[in-house]
Parts: sequence; C-alpha cells; structure tokens
Amino acid sequence: MPEYSFSPTGAKFKLPDPEDYLKEFNRLKEVVSKQRTLGREIVVVLGVGFVGAVMAAVVADAQDGNGNPSKFVIGMQRPSARSYWKIPLLNLGIPPVSSEDPEVPLMINRCVNEKKTLTATFTHDALKLADVVVVDVQCDYLKESLGNVRNGRADMEALEESLEIIGQNISPETLVLIETTVAPGTTEQVAYPIIKKMFRKRGIERDPLLAHSFERVMPGKNYVASIRDFWRVCSGVNEEATRSVVKFLKEVINTEKYPLTVLDRPIESETAKIVENSFRATILAFLDEWSLFAEQNGVDLIKVINAIKVRPTHSNMIFPGPGIGGYCLPKDGGLGLWAYRHIHGFEDDIFKITPMAIDINDTRALHVAQLTRDALRNMGRPIASAEILVLGASYREDVGDTRYSGSELIVRRLTEMGAELKVHDPYVGHWWEFEKQDEYPASSHSLKKFFRGQEKLKDLRVEQDLNKTLNGADAVIFTVRHKHYLNLDPDAVVKSAGGAIAVIDCFGILDDEKIRRYFELGCEVKGLGRGHVKRIKDQVRLKTQSGEPPGLRTED
Ligand SMILES: NC(=O)c1ccc[n+]([C@@H]2O[C@H](COP(=O)([O-])OP(=O)(O)OC[C@H]3O[C@@H](n4cnc5c(N)ncnc54)[C@H](O)[C@@H]3O)[C@@H](O)[C@H]2O)c1
Repeated sequence: MPEYSFSPTGAKFKLPDPEDYLKEFNRLKEVVSKQRTLGREIVVVLGVGFVGAVMAAVVADAQDGNGNPSKFVIGMQRPSARSYWKIPLLNLGIPPVSSEDPEVPLMINRCVNEKKTLTATFTHDALKLADVVVVDVQCDYLKESLGNVRNGRADMEALEESLEIIGQNISPETLVLIETTVAPGTTEQVAYPIIKKMFRKRGIERDPLLAHSFERVMPGKNYVASIRDFWRVCSGVNEEATRSVVKFLKEVINTEKYPLTVLDRPIESETAKIVENSFRATILAFLDEWSLFAEQNGVDLIKVINAIKVRPTHSNMIFPGPGIGGYCLPKDGGLGLWAYRHIHGFEDDIFKITPMAIDINDTRALHVAQLTRDALRNMGRPIASAEILVLGASYREDVGDTRYSGSELIVRRLTEMGAELKVHDPYVGHWWEFEKQDEYPASSHSLKKFFRGQEKLKDLRVEQDLNKTLNGADAVIFTVRHKHYLNLDPDAVVKSAGGAIAVIDCFGILDDEKIRRYFELGCEVKGLGRGHVKRIKDQVRLKTQSGEPPGLRTED
C-alpha cells in the first residue's frame, strides 16, 4: 500500500519507495559535481521547517564579490507522512511555509528555478556531499501538565537522531553548524560525543568541526530579513570550528551591517538564546497580574502601556494578548531548567522567575473563557451550546503559525464548558492541532490531554468567509491582531451575526469608539486588561435609560 503525505493545501504526494533512494542520490551527485565545477560550496540544511526552509533559501541566494552564486544548497527533510510534502513543493520553487513576507516565495522561486542553487531531498546520503551542514531540526520541550513547566523534559530525539546520521555520513572536514535552539551544553556535551563516536566507528581520527549559532527568525512580514539582515551570535567547539563558522556566516548573511558576536564557547551561544527568550517571556508574564488588576479596577491596560512606552527605557513593554504562543517562548526556558539538572547534573533548584513566567503565559488564555462565560451570562445566555466564533488561530498577527497559540487553549476550554466553536483565520488553511489532534504536533504533544470532551474538535475547520461565519454567533472573540480584524465595523459585525453578541477583545483590538458602538447595539463587551469597558457601558446605559445612575448595575 503506497503511503502519502498531504500538504496543508491538500496536495497529495506519494512517499518514496526503497528503490527511489539510489536514484535520488545519483541525481544529487550529478548536480553537485556540476556545481563544484562552478566553484560553489555545497551546503546541506537539515530540516526544512519554519527556519530551515528560509535559511536554505538565504544561503542559496548568497553571492561572492563578483555577484555570482557562491553556494549550492540541498534542503534535506525526513520523508515522514507529516513532512515529506515539503520536498516536492520546494523542488517546484514553492515555499513549504506560509508567510506575509513577499520575499519568501520570490527568493525560493528564484533560487530553485532561475539560479538553480537550491534543491530539496529526502535522502540522508546528501550529507556525504556536504562542505557545510546546517542543522535546523526541532528540539522540543514536553510538558506533562498544564501550567507547570518543571514537570516536563527536553525531547532531543529528532536532534540526536540527526546528529548520529550526520556522524555516519559527513566527510571529516565538514562544518556542522547547529542552529536549533538547544538545552545549553548540548553542542559540547551531546552533539560532539555523538559525532565523534560515529567518526571513530568509521576509523576517522579527526575531531568534529562543530559550532552553534542560534536563529532569531520571526516568521512574519520580515521573515527573510530576520534571518539575513539581523545580528547573529556564534561559537565553535575549538578555534578551527569558530574560524569556519565565522567564515560561513560572513558569506551568507549581512554581517557587515549586522556584526557577528563571537562567544568563547557554544554553551554561551546556547545560553544567550535561552536567556533572550526567557527575558521576553518574563516581561510578558509580568503584565498578566496587572491585566487582572486593570479588569477589576476600571483601568485600560492598553492605554497605560502606551503611556509608559513613551519613556525610552520602557519602550519594549508589550501587551501579552491571550497567552504567548509560537514555538520558542513557551519552551525555551524549560530547556534551560532541564539542562541544569540533566546535562550538568546539579540537584539544587535555582530557577524561580523563568518557570513562573512560562507557567503564567501557558495558562493566561484560560481567563478568556471566563470572560466569554461572564459576557454571555450578562446577556442571559448560557455558555453551554452557545455558538462562539474565534477570530484568529495563529499566535501572532498576520502569520499562519498556530503553534501553541492562545486561541487553541480558548477553543479547548470553551469546548470543555459545552460551547460550540467556530474559527476564522485568513492565514490558516488547516488547524492541525485540532484536525489531527491525536498525532500533531506529535502523539504525546497535544494539549488535548489536559481537557475533557475534545473528540469533536477533529471536525473543527478554519473558515475563510468572515461574514458567513459570523452568522448565528452568540459571541465573537478577537484573539489575534490580524489586519483583517482591526477595522471591522461594529454595525456590520452585528448585522452579519444577526443580532446582539458578546464581544471579547483579547488584544486591544477595539478602540473606545467601537466598544461604545457595540454597547449601543445591545452587545456585551469584555477584554483582557480592559477594565474601562464597564465605564463605557455605564455611559451608554445612562444615555439610553435616562435617570439610571452609573455604577448601580451588579451583574459584572
Ligand atoms: N519557528 C521560529 O520562529 C523559530 C525562531 C527561532 C528559532 N527557532 C528554532 O529553530 C529550530 C527549528 O524550528 P522550526 O520552527 O523550523 O521547526 P519545524 O518543526 O518547523 O522544522 C523542523 C524540521 O526538521 C525536520 N526533521 C526532524 N528530524 C529530522 C531528521 N532526522 N532529518 C531531517 N529532517 C528532520 C522536521 O520534519 C521539520 O520539517 C528549533 O530549535 C526552534 O526552536 C525557531
């Protein structure tokens, strides 16, 4: 029985048969020998996911001082049913990731079809042809309970497997650059011994040429620039490795404008990534308690933050929205905690703020379910069997990345409470976290296990027609600041819904004028960190029910 891999748009690709591997390796050998005659270095990027696919294109687009392509890139990807489709798509010049950055499809098409400096493959034999290997496979952190990052562990399986395969295949002089965010200590204490052991098995006496340099990619409007035109930190396991990684990065990214920071040891580069993201997670988590304070005391936290941000020392304050999703911030601090014990062998418990921040961020979205319940109750509608529309599945604005988005938790909790959920997102075709919740992101990773009554969510489909989806909704939850939602007219929303609705603003999407209008239309409005909505509601009531003083209503 042939097995197939389906792309997010539903395109079907047959997985390779055993006899396809030799054919594929022969194809690569032929291409590579031509590329070598053109003086190009051969770079294999392992893992063509969110980071690897665009990094591969950035390297393939690099040119020498004469404006000629200097690298030939092979994107290598496991041919699993979940991921194989990325290979044939890339080979057509189509990005396997969706993005708001128009440079992503242009660059991938240019490198594959015009410059012919980029190809993708499923065979690990590609590693035999590499001068440089860039590792962009995932290294997950598995959480065993919701809101307790300490109860979890690093999942190094894919990374360790990749390192073994690298050690079995590369030539001894190949530079291996780990870009994956790893538990600090991994390059020297996990990767180095694995590759060295494989080298010794092959009778290679040389030590591996190994380095670490983490990615700061943001898959949004500046996707390509966040890889190519941005500051990098790097470090090698020895002087030769450091020299090689500096040379490579200088050839492929814009280090003239964004100078490299070279650290003494890979553990410092690895720690820089974890601290950078833990810092960000912490400043976001810190605002959660002030968000609750604001809701209970008539304060609009959005205006408060804007007032503070004018002070240059505080300009990086950001409103946390319904939790902090994305692949990195929810897990990276966990990799640090885990490394302290399981790589470095310490028994004491030095971490307080980092795990607390992650736990706060991981559960912040649950409060949205409470706001929705309360708003509906104020309208005399029970949450059970209410029709609720979530506007935005992805974790940040104007991208199609749903990984660990706050919206997922909102949908799961409200489903548990008996509501009927609908979702709209112009950037997301399929919300695999639900459609394939038994196996995506992996069988043990799904957040499904923390909630009851989740089976029906397999049938949840992401709607694209906003007006149609609004029809019949009892509540609408604005979860993400997608540009499509910023200027929605309250009159039009209520008309499409067919009557007054509960409106929940999770991300400061509604200005005061819109909030007022929703109240005038008979709606109920609540928002994360937006305690001032009660004041607006009272003003509207005062106007319509003359004589009733503000502040006497008790249902809030
Ligand atoms: N996504 C981001 O915004 C971002 C930002 C900065 C850093 N990072 C880090 O970059 C790394 C990669 O993240 P990502 O978002 O690209 O993950 P991803 O899951 O999108 O991609 C990883 C890819 O590696 C493939 N893979 C796994 N094992 C393999 C193997 N043995 N051989 C070949 N391919 C294999 C997977 O199939 C997948 O396509 C992670 O460490 C992440 O923390 C990600």
